[in-house]
Amino acid sequence: APAPASTFFIFGASGDLTKRLLLPSLYNLAHEGVLVDDFAIVGVDHVERSEEDYRAFLTDAVRELPGSLDTEGETWRWLISRIFYVAGDFEDPATYGRIRERLEQRRAQTGNAVFYLAVAPRFFATIAEQLGAAGLLKEGEGSFRHVVVEKPFGSDMPSAKALNRRLLAVADERQIYRIDHFLGKETVQNMMALRFGNGIFEPIWSKEYIDHVQITAAETVTVEQRGGFYDATGALRDMVPNHMFQLLAMTAMEPPNSFDADAVRSEKTKVIEAIRHMRPSEAIGAAVRGQYRAGFVNGEAVKDYRDEKDVHPESRTETYVALKCFVDSWRWNGVPFYVRTGKALAVRRTEIAIQFKRAPGVLFRHLPTALKPNLMVIHVQPDEGVSLRFAAKVPGRKVRLSDVEMSFKYADYFKAAPSTGYETLIYDCLCGDPTLFQRADTIEAGWEAVEPILEAVGGGENEVQFYSAGSSGPAMSDVMLAQDGFQWLPLERDRPR
Ligand code: BG6
Repeated sequence: APAPASTFFIFGASGDLTKRLLLPSLYNLAHEGVLVDDFAIVGVDHVERSEEDYRAFLTDAVRELPGSLDTEGETWRWLISRIFYVAGDFEDPATYGRIRERLEQRRAQTGNAVFYLAVAPRFFATIAEQLGAAGLLKEGEGSFRHVVVEKPFGSDMPSAKALNRRLLAVADERQIYRIDHFLGKETVQNMMALRFGNGIFEPIWSKEYIDHVQITAAETVTVEQRGGFYDATGALRDMVPNHMFQLLAMTAMEPPNSFDADAVRSEKTKVIEAIRHMRPSEAIGAAVRGQYRAGFVNGEAVKDYRDEKDVHPESRTETYVALKCFVDSWRWNGVPFYVRTGKALAVRRTEIAIQFKRAPGVLFRHLPTALKPNLMVIHVQPDEGVSLRFAAKVPGRKVRLSDVEMSFKYADYFKAAPSTGYETLIYDCLCGDPTLFQRADTIEAGWEAVEPILEAVGGGENEVQFYSAGSSGPAMSDVMLAQDGFQWLPLERDRPR
């Protein structure tokens, strides 16, 4: 169904996120036909430029994107004719006066507005407060005002709490949409379908049958142009309390009573709140931080992280992190959840691997090698799908067993529309459905769980280990699992599915 008419304000209208993700997603939504004629986009940025100029700027920008959009076609013509521009400083109340005028002019079409904050995090609260002071967050009869807040949401627990406090002083929780774009991914949403739409998985989805869980988000990209941001942030803050914990929550949550946004989000939050808080001293053995050194990724030379643009030459920031987590609930008591993410690794692969307990060895103990445990892998990206490893008899007179795999691939069943993941989220925000957005308490629980590690790092107690670009991360990370008798799934390029 088409989304209700609204005015979509983008703060940071000339920024990278707008060009790379927001515009393409809005284009895809327009192409799908879910944006109504009364929809409009208003870019807000400090650059003085005319509307004509802004449209030309966007057209050029999206033409340069890989897999670039068709800027000659009907969809782009439709979209670009609905794009407007307001120049102004984010800290200047006059900017918000101009925004209000814009909305007044649009009153005949709609009073609904989304304010998308695609800006540097230091502006999140300021912009929200200015919107509030200008009366722009007050919802009239039957019209909505939503604020979308991008990542990173705070840089530790106190700052995330402070940001929530400032946002909630000017808007209701219901109006605030905190983005975690992993939740826009089909495979992540499919976790609920897989677990709760089937009768065969849930009964064995617990400590009785599951040995441990591995959650991986491996990237081949380096820090690219984001050295300044990244060096002050690191892999732990950038990926763990948000994306990685969302994957963990999807894996470990209890079935919600309904699809109601808060029913779903409460169950996820409960999981994140149940992540055991390490003592800083434990954070040494249960958290491995790595930093890439020069190497080759997919045959291409990569330089030392410390030689990247805007990175401190003696930086101790991690570009890789691996953690051992426990979820202290009845269902998961004692089951380790290993989480790892990093840049400049051998492959790009995001997956959730559920390793089940072994079958009793009674019948097959005479075999030369031990049977491998059953393994279910949710392939989040790329090669989206789900696979299940089990043992089968090798044909022949001798009893021999071999691992085989049942595999479901999205590509075999569904013809997916092109998606960045942002389409779903933008559409949901336009329709007023916050299910796939982070609630204040979810975010705070995530930060709380990583706080001891941040403390250990801050106290110089968790030294960064080096790994070569193109490898599968620092050796210590393998040691961490080996100490528990486990092994990471290999990150090699042609690992059989
Ligand atoms: C972002 C991080 O939130 O997620 C990036 O800031 C990371 O560092 C990106 O590369 C990964 O997203 P995706 O969709 O490419 O897996």
